[in-house]
Amino acid sequence: MTTAAELRGFASVKRVKARLEAACPGTVSCADILALMARDAVLLAKGPYWPVRRGRRRASPFLRRHVRRQGPRPQGPRRSTPATTATRRGLFSSDAVTGEYVRRVASGSFDEEFFRDFAESMIKMGNVGVLTGDQGEIRTKYRQPVRLQSASMATSSSWMVMLMLVSAAAAAASSSSAAGQLRTGYYRETCPKAEQIVFGETTRIIRASPDMAGALLRLHYHDCFVQGCDASVLLDSTAGNASAERDSDPNKTLRGFDAVARVKDKLEKACPSTVSCADILALMARDAVLLAKGPTWNVPLGRRDGRSSTAASCGGNLPPLCSNVTRLLESFAAKGLDVKDLVVLSGAHTLGVAHCPNFADRLSGDPALDGAYAARLRLQCNKGNVTAEMDPGSFTRFDTSYFRQVARRRALLRSDACLMDNPFTAAYVRQAATGKYDGHFFKDFGESMVKMGAIGVLTGNQGEIRLKCNVKNKHLHH
Ligand code: HEM
Repeated sequence: MTTAAELRGFASVKRVKARLEAACPGTVSCADILALMARDAVLLAKGPYWPVRRGRRRASPFLRRHVRRQGPRPQGPRRSTPATTATRRGLFSSDAVTGEYVRRVASGSFDEEFFRDFAESMIKMGNVGVLTGDQGEIRTKYRQPVRLQSASMATSSSWMVMLMLVSAAAAAASSSSAAGQLRTGYYRETCPKAEQIVFGETTRIIRASPDMAGALLRLHYHDCFVQGCDASVLLDSTAGNASAERDSDPNKTLRGFDAVARVKDKLEKACPSTVSCADILALMARDAVLLAKGPTWNVPLGRRDGRSSTAASCGGNLPPLCSNVTRLLESFAAKGLDVKDLVVLSGAHTLGVAHCPNFADRLSGDPALDGAYAARLRLQCNKGNVTAEMDPGSFTRFDTSYFRQVARRRALLRSDACLMDNPFTAAYVRQAATGKYDGHFFKDFGESMVKMGAIGVLTGNQGEIRLKCNVKNKHLHH
């Protein structure tokens, strides 16, 4: 009946704790270490990945005394009848209530569903009765009472420590209180026609050039990942700031600035100084997807525009093109986005084009790229084409054919191809590729866009409402 005595792995936890104490004394709780190690163990055993929320603190001693009483009883309820068969087959009777689920997963056709469920349930389990804030303590040694140490900060490059740092950033990003201040219908009183004006103008823009849908969606993503969704990506370089975000390498291929300016002009005429450029980007991205026959969603509004923009800030924030899937996950985690957001938002590559230099290195012998497809692309780029459609034949239509391309080793970008290297993202790609889950993907996409649209937003009195999206207000008045 004693459960604690059967547990193993204490020495491993102790080892990780010692490394973390060397890197960041008195900072990372043992409870968080357990949650992170459990997650990493599953991933390393080729299972799913999920984001772990941090901030747990050491449990009070009474918990240990109560483990015996509170731990689940492997025998389950004594009188249970449907449980008996499962118990005979080696399952705990408490599992028998989920017999139907077991049979379904046992068929082997629902691995991806199980991975997803497992990740979700682990997150739920990790939230059970946690101590946070001032409760409990951060032990400096595993199993020993906390003693304040003089902070001799050692550095460590271990991947575990890096993961912790990235994770901490994710927690910070996702708990942004400003994000909570956004709300749908924000302009109902101050500019009741705002969303209608944006939609009307975006419709005209995309009717005239259907390929603008991708450009507008990408603008919002590049805005949000660098310094938050504050329209800093739209600011021009100036005499005082020779190199704004817009002029950084990854942003050189951004398009759609004129389209945003056009919408902004309309809004300034209808409701001067009211609707921020950051909100315009979020609304135009939403409308572009709908106009490309994709889903729609409610956009929480109330963002304000930032007053700074530097090319240098793009590097570490936008995931590099040559990323492997771990690097992509880290980039997303640093913004409070998880593995599901990564695979779902990568689905944006159902729209638009990529320039040859962005995939040229994959055209000779990348095993993750179908040979015949690579040969066609090589020809295309050699013939002088500057770009290729990321979802050939359907690059102005928002659908799930992107996932079919990725599943068939026809992903144009390395970042798309490597989605097949992680069990969770690969499972999602394969599932969406069947074409039977378009509704699920559409819903997921809207949800992830809302999350992305809340990254590091400015609200209330922060920032300003720019009069022109490419210039800070101060510059206009001088
Ligand atoms: C996961 C990391 C990502 C990487 C490494 C990445 C990289 C790229 C690259 C290199 C291009 C081609 C640019 C060009 O050559 O013109 C591109 C295009 C595009 N990206 Fe991404 N991207 C990522 C995520 C996203 C996300 C999250 C979104 C939106 C939610 C997005 C939306 C787009 C769109 C719509 C295009 C087409 C743009 C056009 O037609 O002008 N991307 N991306």
